Amino acid sequence: MACLSPSQLQKFQEDGFLVLEGFLSADECAAMQQRIGEMVADMDVPLHCRTEFSTQQEEQLRAQGSTDYFLSSGDKIRFFFEKGVFDEKGNFLVPPEKSINKIGHALHAHDPVFKSVTHSPKVQQPHLGGEVSPHQDASFLYTEPLGRVLGMWIALEDATLGNGCLWFIPGSHTSGVSRRMIRAPAGSAPGTSFLGSEPVWDNGLFVPTPVPRGALVLIHGEVVHKSEPNLSEGSRHAYTFHLMEAAGTVWSPENWLQPTAELPFPALYT
Ligand code: FE2
Repeated sequence: MACLSPSQLQKFQEDGFLVLEGFLSADECAAMQQRIGEMVADMDVPLHCRTEFSTQQEEQLRAQGSTDYFLSSGDKIRFFFEKGVFDEKGNFLVPPEKSINKIGHALHAHDPVFKSVTHSPKVQQPHLGGEVSPHQDASFLYTEPLGRVLGMWIALEDATLGNGCLWFIPGSHTSGVSRRMIRAPAGSAPGTSFLGSEPVWDNGLFVPTPVPRGALVLIHGEVVHKSEPNLSEGSRHAYTFHLMEAAGTVWSPENWLQPTAELPFPALYT
């Protein structure tokens, strides 16, 4: 992989993000989209992870089931859905291929196509085009010291204002992390909680970042970013994962995602 030029590095350090067009070829993007299509066609999702129950007790059971499904997904390929895509019995209200927000979190380990493109990600989540509210990645992937996590977001098709491109608050990566998601002790419910609260970000500070197919967006772990809902008729596929500078870094034992004996975090350099 080519190095960043001094001006690109300076822009990343100033803004907290950087667009690199032409990172993947059209053929590489098409191959990954084809695999996504095959996985969605074959997907098998437990009913308790897609059913909306009506009573409070059942709601709690559903929430706990969904939490377990999420918290144990770090070393598996699982599907996460948009809101409102199921009826009360768990039947799809929209075509299944249009129901998914993301697939995570171990495609890099289990799927040969994604493995060949990113052989050493820490975490990855193919985003299929859903809304993502304003956040800092370090709220979920906390390290000490901060500043050791880098997001890689690759557009597998054009990301536009109409289909949910990324938006950033340039320069917001220097103000620390105000909210953290913490994994609760095993067996407790709910399985996660938040320390602190997400500030109310001024919508006027966000800058849209439309990019063409194949572009890579580098995302500083503390920069504030979001995606608007995809209001277009089509998809907006992206492949996203995170890298961590491991030397001298403590991966918080409270993060929801933890390396396992079966799937430790792979090293980029050995
Ligand atoms: Fe993010």
